[in-house]
Amino acid sequence: MRFFEFPVRKTDIPEEGQLQFIEAERQVPFPVRRVYYSTGVRAGYVRGKHAHRSLEQALVCVHGSVRVALDTGIEKMTCILDNPARGLYVGPMLWHTMTWIQDDSVLLVLASDYYNEADYIRSYEDFLLLAGQRGGA
Ligand code: TYD
Repeated sequence: MRFFEFPVRKTDIPEEGQLQFIEAERQVPFPVRRVYYSTGVRAGYVRGKHAHRSLEQALVCVHGSVRVALDTGIEKMTCILDNPARGLYVGPMLWHTMTWIQDDSVLLVLASDYYNEADYIRSYEDFLLLAGQRGGA
């Protein structure tokens, strides 16, 4: 799994918390055309369950914790995102599933392109077929 570490600015004033920042094409390697985030999600809820043909994304849990499962068609990996200074790279042709561990966790996603339903692969069977054709499975 590929992670990005984001700079954190922290002073010795506890009330100030921390400031994290992400610059497109610096802390994440791709141009960012879209940012989206989920709010009000309850623990146990599962999002994702799809792959993208060409989209690149960085997933950052800015509050709470979310488990992410990635599947190349051959290999499955999981990690827990609970650090606002750390992003997970989700590139093309990765089946991804995000499970909310804590109520109201906020998953921020930076995406390399605008929303395009045609870029989604929403059937796991289709994903396995396409991954196999591309040498992934
Ligand atoms: P989807 O990506 O399937 O959400 P998740 O994987 O988080 O459950 O998107 C859910 C719906 O929202 C879908 O109908 C498309 C719409 N949507 C947009 O219109 N724009 C966006 O940027 C995103 C991410 C989703």
